[in-house]
Amino acid sequence: MDRYEWVRRVESNARTYAATFESVFEVGSGLRLKDSTGRDILDCLCCAGALPLGHNHPEVKSAVVEFIDSGHVQQVLDLITPAKYDFIEQLYGVLPPAFAAQSKIHFCSPSGSDAVEAAMKLTRIATQRQPIIAFHGAYHGMTGAALGAMGNLGPKSRGMSAGQNVHFAPYPYTFRCPFGSDGSQTDKLSLAYLDTILSDPESGVPCPAAVIVEVVQGEGGCIPVSDYWLRSLRELTKHYQIPLIVDEVQSGFGRTGTMFAFERAGIVPDVLVLSKALGGGFPLAVVMYHESLDVWSRGMHAGTFRGNQIAMVSGKKTMEIIQRDHLAANARSQGEGLVAGLRDLAQTYPELGDVRGRGLMVGVEVVKPGATTGASEPDGELATRIKLAAFEHGLLIETGGRHGAVMRFLPPLNISESDVGEILSRFESALTSTVRRKELSYVA
Ligand SMILES: Cc1ncc(COP(=O)(O)O)c(C=O)c1O
Repeated sequence: MDRYEWVRRVESNARTYAATFESVFEVGSGLRLKDSTGRDILDCLCCAGALPLGHNHPEVKSAVVEFIDSGHVQQVLDLITPAKYDFIEQLYGVLPPAFAAQSKIHFCSPSGSDAVEAAMKLTRIATQRQPIIAFHGAYHGMTGAALGAMGNLGPKSRGMSAGQNVHFAPYPYTFRCPFGSDGSQTDKLSLAYLDTILSDPESGVPCPAAVIVEVVQGEGGCIPVSDYWLRSLRELTKHYQIPLIVDEVQSGFGRTGTMFAFERAGIVPDVLVLSKALGGGFPLAVVMYHESLDVWSRGMHAGTFRGNQIAMVSGKKTMEIIQRDHLAANARSQGEGLVAGLRDLAQTYPELGDVRGRGLMVGVEVVKPGATTGASEPDGELATRIKLAAFEHGLLIETGGRHGAVMRFLPPLNISESDVGEILSRFESALTSTVRRKELSYVA
């Protein structure tokens, strides 16, 4: 038996990307990957956004190799080391001063999910309240409390999230307004609804320990909130004295065109959750929060692998490069180019019902065209076929969102205009072949 076939046989049914993209991936450089057959693939998945500089950035690689050669300790629980000091100093340096000035940091086990667990635990301890308010479409991770705050019911089936004490409010998803408006009223209605939940003594929702939000929902279908909505959410949560947790696991570090997505609205969250790009491709996760919340005691959120020094070295170097090379601005301008190109394609292909995003967090919602009122029905089946065709044409993109109908682009932040052109051209080839196939099958 082929050795890769053997891996496929022994790997779990719950595997994800490996079940879709059956190649064997070998080498990578920046945006580009090569599989074992030597095929050139443009990686717009980038480890779900955890590779902000793409694969094997030479400066990050050198910093890591030099560190390994130096004899410095590599794993130390949460003990203090020079690498940890440098990393924390760099992280505080890229945060908005209004947030950094009064923030504490806690190192978590190295996944976004664990940092979300920590954020929820922290706010529950600090407020002595249990409920959490999360949003429809939210994705905060796969562990107990984080899974409880997930909108997608799929992974929560069979009682997996029982007893998590999470209440869900409608997210301002303007393309499919949860209140049935044409999108123009979505922000206001969603805020009014939240206000009602929090103020009505008979809403059935007790005052929560926290509200947790993604500024751009990633897995939920690449949906950004408006600055107005985020500012109003901040005001509401302040008014009711509820800590606001902003989950920037996916949107942080330049991805959306600013260093952190919340900065655009000029708000300051109480709690910030960071992972993915934080370690520059190596596993690392932290929760940062206003010092007034720091009332938990020693050992309340521990874990063995919270001191991954290689990730700290790589994360520090990655933050330096993002700042030095103005990669948030690059993400903004290349993202605009990508969105413009995709919108051009949407003129020709009505199946591309909505093109949206912020910076280089871009999504295309695939629909069954022809609705006379409101948004057309999502077409997750066609989105999957386009994704597979894209892969055949050397473009790695994932689907997500409601009914799996959103094609998500998360390329490295340092891509160029010509990279964007190449991504668009491969996507168009995928689209042409897929839609043509669909028409042929209608004929048959
Ligand atoms: C916004 C957000 N929060 C949390 C997580 C969970 O992170 P991890 O997969 O590292 O546990 C993710 C993962 O995609 C995410 O996008």
